[in-house]
Amino acid sequence: MLPVPCLEDLGALEGRSVLVRVDFNVPLTNGTEIADDLRIRAALPTLRWLLARGATVTACTHLGRPKGRPDPRYSVQPVRRRLEELAAEVELLENLRFEPGETANDPGLAERLVEGHDAYVNDAFGASHRAHASIVGPPRWLPSAAGRLLAREVEVLGGLRDAPRRPFVAVLGGAKVSDKLGVIDALLEMVDALVIGGAMCFTFLKARGHRVGASLCEESMVDHCRELLDGPTPIHLPYDLTALGPGGVLGDPAAGGDVRQVGADVPDGWMGVDIGPGSAAQFGDVIHEAGTVFWNGPMGVFEDPRFGGGTGAVAAAMAETRALTVVGGGDSAAAARRFGVDRDMDHVSTGGGASLELIEKGDLPGLAALRQRNATGSNAAGDERDKQGGADAT
Ligand code: 3PG
Repeated sequence: MLPVPCLEDLGALEGRSVLVRVDFNVPLTNGTEIADDLRIRAALPTLRWLLARGATVTACTHLGRPKGRPDPRYSVQPVRRRLEELAAEVELLENLRFEPGETANDPGLAERLVEGHDAYVNDAFGASHRAHASIVGPPRWLPSAAGRLLAREVEVLGGLRDAPRRPFVAVLGGAKVSDKLGVIDALLEMVDALVIGGAMCFTFLKARGHRVGASLCEESMVDHCRELLDGPTPIHLPYDLTALGPGGVLGDPAAGGDVRQVGADVPDGWMGVDIGPGSAAQFGDVIHEAGTVFWNGPMGVFEDPRFGGGTGAVAAAMAETRALTVVGGGDSAAAARRFGVDRDMDHVSTGGGASLELIEKGDLPGLAALRQRNATGSNAAGDERDKQGGADAT
């Protein structure tokens, strides 16, 4: 994977003003309490590094998906309070997505954002797959670099593509095959084995001729899954499942409905909602024998304790294996934390969609923007400002 410029490339920062794009899109309870501040803590090494070098630091982030205008439900105020406790000197701008130009990648917004700053740092790995104004715009105007968090994500996830320790195994879960089609195709070119759990396994099981009962299944994807199963890379599917009977409600054991183990065929009216204990043990064996494991997506509906066994077993195997263990962001990172193994992983990505896109495509808009700036040393926008005695373009 192509390298990106790092903080050291920015040169002396004493007395300079640095704009840092972070991804503080954190989960909030009741809109006010931060449920998990991992993304804020993960940016601290960069923020503190810049402060220690005498820079004035202004951070900016999106939070949720407001519709391009101020909306108090998405104010960054709770994040600001937490940041004050962790790095009081850092100013945090209001939610970038209150501006319609952010998601529209309006160069005018980027130009306004960089106003008054001498350098730009992207440490928002989780948002670097978005070609949004604050991600791809500032490097056109300012000397720019990747922050520590972004650089580490690129190093680890890029390493999976470039030189994984073998055997390289990917463990994928989650609801839909269609959501992960691109990354599944890409991974099948890279890995020595693919392990599939979560609701997406039912589309594969159907392609193998199994009955799926009332389980989630994407009919339109069955033929594609059959082609993948016929391909050269081994794909491990569960051979037993934990299923919820008619009348049962996910997340509400009191609603009734039987829960039982079934084989790879789910009876009519039953819904497969977790891999079974036999498959969990088998998946664990594959993880133990691997040199590298990339895990993305839970094996079942782990938020309901009746269906957390498969995800818990994969989490435990990830913690025990000697393989290099990398967890994609989003649900998988939440699962690793829920099962208390996040600190045992070699790397837990802060980006859900971004980690999958980086593995699939080998690059992200936010990385390309940083590199483009660095490779040319100047560009039209930067040259214009330089001529006018504006931002330092080196
Ligand atoms: C994320 O949480 O995955 C990132 O912050 C990106 O958010 P988005 O999907 O709303 O662009």
